[in-house]
Amino acid sequence: MADVTSTWTEPSNTPLALLLLGKGTDPASERGVDCPGDLPAPSDPDLVARATAAKAALGDRVFVLGHHYQRDEVIRFADVTGDSFKLAQQAAARPDAEFIVFCGVHFMAESADILTKPSQRVILPDLAAGCSMADMAVLGQVETAWEHFQDLGIAGDIVPVTYMNSSADIKGFVGRNSGVVCTSSNAKRALTWSFEQGSKVFFLPDQHLGRNTAVLEMGFDLDDCVLYDPHKPHGGLTDEELRNAKMILWRGHCSVHGRFTIDSVREVRERVPGVNVLVHPECRHDVVRAADYVGSTEYIIKALDAAPAGSAWAVGTELNLVRRLALAHPDKQVMFLDRTVCYCSTMNRIDLPHLVWTLEELVAGRVPNVITVDEKTAREARVALDQMLALP
Ligand code: 13P
Ligand code: SF4
Repeated sequence: MADVTSTWTEPSNTPLALLLLGKGTDPASERGVDCPGDLPAPSDPDLVARATAAKAALGDRVFVLGHHYQRDEVIRFADVTGDSFKLAQQAAARPDAEFIVFCGVHFMAESADILTKPSQRVILPDLAAGCSMADMAVLGQVETAWEHFQDLGIAGDIVPVTYMNSSADIKGFVGRNSGVVCTSSNAKRALTWSFEQGSKVFFLPDQHLGRNTAVLEMGFDLDDCVLYDPHKPHGGLTDEELRNAKMILWRGHCSVHGRFTIDSVREVRERVPGVNVLVHPECRHDVVRAADYVGSTEYIIKALDAAPAGSAWAVGTELNLVRRLALAHPDKQVMFLDRTVCYCSTMNRIDLPHLVWTLEELVAGRVPNVITVDEKTAREARVALDQMLALP
C-alpha cells in the first residue's frame, strides 16, 4: 500500500501555528478557553475514549455537525461534515435530536438555531469560536449605510445580500429588506435571483466573494463594483459612484483566504509544472483570476475526488482541510498554495478537550454554551435563509 503521507509537505510552521495546534502556550491568547467546568488537558490520553463513550451514552439525543475546516480530532466525531450551505441544510435534518453540537463557528451555530425547532438546543463547544469576517459588519454600520441609500433615493433599487458568514442580526436586516443569504456554493444563484428583484446589490460582508462572483461568473465589470468602507463617511463613496454602481461591496474579508497572493500562484506554477490551482472564492480577485478552478469547500473536495491519479493540485483554502485531502488522496500530489501555514484560528478553537467537555456536560444533565437568537431577529433572518434554501 502507498505511504499515505508521501506526497504531503507540511508548510513551514510559525510560532502562532504551533499555538493553534495546542503545541505551545500563550496565556495572553487563551481568551475564551475557560469553561464553567473542568476542561480536560489536551495531553489526556483518554480523550478519544471519553468522547466516544459520551457520544454513545447520548445516542440519538445528540447530533454533531462539523465544518470542513475543523481539526481531524473533531471531524472524526461529526455525524455530518459539510460546507456552510450543507450544514445549514443539515441542521434541520434531525428534528428529534435534543442537542445540536456545532463544530464550526458562531455564525453557523446561530443559523442552525434559526433553522431548528425551538425545543432543540444548539451548542458551540467554545464560545470564542467567532469569525473575523462576520465581525467586520456590525448592524449599526449597515443601517447607517442603508439610511444613506434611502436619502439618495436608491434603496428601493437595491437588494441586500449577505454571505452566510455574518451575524444573525445582519441576516435579520437582509430579511426585513427583502434580500437573501448566500454561501460560497450558491452565490451566483443568489445574485442572479437578486438582479431579477432589483438593479443593484448591496453585498455583505465579504468583498471578495461578491466581486469574484459578479465579475467572474456574472459578466459584470470591475467598474460596476464599488467598495463601501464603513469607517468612512458615506462609505468613502460619492453619490455618483453609488448611483452608478451595480454591486456595492462591503469592505470585509476573510483573514485566512486573504493570505494567499498572486505570488503564491506564480511560485507554485514555476515549482510544479502542470499543477492545477484550486482556490476558494473568499480569496482576493487577482488570486482567483490566476487560479484554474474556484469553489466552496464542498466543491474543492469533489474536484479532488474526481481528479485523475498522478495529477498535481495546489489548494488555496484552510490548512486542516487541505492536509486531510492530501492524506485522503495519496495517488495525487496535493499541496498547500502558500509556503507557510494558514489555519482559521477561530475554527481551530474547537478542539478535542472542548468537545469532550461539551459531551460530558450533556451526559451529566447540564447544557453548556447554548447559542440562542432572539425571536424577532430569528424570524427576520429566517426569511433571508429560507429564500436562500428556495433558490432555483
Ligand atoms: P464554505 O463552507 O461555504 O466553503 O465557506 C468557507 C468558510 O470560510 C467558512 O467559514
Ligand atoms: Fe471566518 Fe475566514 Fe475563518 Fe471562515 S475561514 S470562519 S470566513 S475567518
